[in-house]
Amino acid sequence: MHYYGDSILRTTATPVSDIDDDLKALAAAMIVTMRHENGVGLAATQIGRTQKIAIIDPTGGEADPYILINPEIVYVSPETMIEDEGCLSVPTIWQPVKRHKCVSVKARDLDGREYTIENADGRLARAIQHEVDHLNGILFIDRLSPMQRRLINGKLKKLAKSGGEEK
Ligand code: NI
Repeated sequence: MHYYGDSILRTTATPVSDIDDDLKALAAAMIVTMRHENGVGLAATQIGRTQKIAIIDPTGGEADPYILINPEIVYVSPETMIEDEGCLSVPTIWQPVKRHKCVSVKARDLDGREYTIENADGRLARAIQHEVDHLNGILFIDRLSPMQRRLINGKLKKLAKSGGEEK
């Protein structure tokens, strides 16, 4: 896992052109890591890779995760929702984040098929927005208010210094 302070988390991921064995192995490694860390989602940059791929499992291991290759959010609802959010790369920090209540995302699966998750809401909508942010080098802490950000600044500095060891 790569933690806050690591520059790879600020990288914009590169769109995938070939769904080859390397990408399939990457997806498998991401699933293992996400399950091991009890995460709801994971983006490739979090394990040090720059391909535009993320996985999401809002069920916590009950179902196969969504594999999102080159995901693109194609609809966001005007309604928003504020709920606590955290990130495996920013351990110990949970803060309320405003997100669109509903989103639709278009992506490819490991067979190269294009599919759309239509009108996702709740935990899934939040995870989609969080993971697509990752692939654009954005972390949830970037979406906090200046006051929230001030509150966690000390923790963030420690985290960046320790490379995640502080968790
Ligand atoms: Ni995250």
